[in-house]
Amino acid sequence: MEKFVVHGPCRLEGEVTISGAKNAAVAILPATLLVKGKCHLENVPDISDIRAYCKILESLGSKIEYISNNELIIDNTDVNSAIASYELTSKFRASYYLIGALIGRFDKVQIGLPGGCKLGARPIDQHIKAFKKLGAKVIVRNGNVYASKTEPLKGSNIFFDVVSVGSTMNAILAATLSEGVTTIENVAKEPHIVDLANFLNSMGAKIKGAGTDTIKITGVKELRQKSSYSIIPDQIETGTFMVAAAATKGDVLIKNCIPKHMEPITAKLIEAGATVEEFESSIRVTMDKRPTSISIKTMPYPGFPTDMQPQTSLLLTIGDSTGTIVETIWESRFQYTDELAKMGADISAHGSTAIFKGVEKLYAAPVRAHDLRAGAAMIIAGLIAEGDTEVYDIHHILRGYENIVGKFANLGAKIDYVKTEDDEE
Ligand code: EPU
Repeated sequence: MEKFVVHGPCRLEGEVTISGAKNAAVAILPATLLVKGKCHLENVPDISDIRAYCKILESLGSKIEYISNNELIIDNTDVNSAIASYELTSKFRASYYLIGALIGRFDKVQIGLPGGCKLGARPIDQHIKAFKKLGAKVIVRNGNVYASKTEPLKGSNIFFDVVSVGSTMNAILAATLSEGVTTIENVAKEPHIVDLANFLNSMGAKIKGAGTDTIKITGVKELRQKSSYSIIPDQIETGTFMVAAAATKGDVLIKNCIPKHMEPITAKLIEAGATVEEFESSIRVTMDKRPTSISIKTMPYPGFPTDMQPQTSLLLTIGDSTGTIVETIWESRFQYTDELAKMGADISAHGSTAIFKGVEKLYAAPVRAHDLRAGAAMIIAGLIAEGDTEVYDIHHILRGYENIVGKFANLGAKIDYVKTEDDEE
């Protein structure tokens, strides 16, 4: 069994460099399938979700040259299969981007239903709606998604019922090589959507409006290979270190980030009493007192990101009065509050609302990382708490945070990675 042991309490101090964005990379990797040629990607995060994605691409016939842990050359000239097994795709959510990326190039695509963090119901009806609008036939059966076409996909008008990151990405991927013009409305505006559009446009795609409510795509016949593209910095990793700095009354300079992407988080940190200084590509967060209790409501970008909800909850957990979090995206995202309760937190979570009565201190306990961001929250809790906090199920954390132990260690934290011998085979 693997676990982290976080030795607390600890004040974070120093500098940390942010890695490439997971949720951009997991769309850009499959997007390379739209090119019958090579794509050179830089600032690729070295995380288990990316390693899993590379395995899927290789199973389809991609040749990947690993220049370094963060730099890849993917050659999709010889991709000859559009069938990805359940065993590979069920490990994470973003495997569904294979459908959008492959349906332009192949007439029949089959992928196992995607997995990912258990955050509540994760339907893919809007993805399917987009593929159908473009002329594909889609069936979900026996744990697989089957998409097919008998003639080239044709541009269409797509109006999403809900604002969905994945559906927006998939519609962009599928429409890029279609015939004619596609207009997609009520789309997600997250920075990773803009990054995917920039990547595709840099290879000759014609995508306008990414980052606004409406995206217009004029289909092109083919894309040209890409000499080099650098993935944007990870908004959520940046936010995780910002919150960790504030929660530990620390002083941290967070480098290689985009301050504009951090505005909803910066605003809440300032409300909680932190000082946030923004520079061109870095942010310094300092805090010298107990947080003022704040209230948060998660919303699609540019609102407060659901993926920062568990980490930021630590500021409310040790806040000076009562704070509230309303979660509007994922129905089961408060499972971590039971873990914090084991450490002395006073939280009552019902439905989409959690009320946090701030406590002065947390005390170490064995806790679980229920999902990726909940896991990051457990590490921050361990940094605040008195004693040695054991965090279990850390495979969730390793899916999305590059070198998390090393990065926290550089800031003065003591976190041990422990693997017990009976699991080593
Ligand atoms: N939804 C539908 N139908 C669909 C698709 C989504 O009803 O066809 C609903 C979902 O149930 C949810 C809402 O729409 O209530 C938003 O879901 P979205 O599609 O935006 O989520 P996602 O694409 O599956 C991505 C991130 C998540 C992040 C959400 C919201 C990736 C790989 N995952 O998921 O990231 O929470 O957007 O921002 O990009 C994480 O990184 O820890 C993570 C969970």
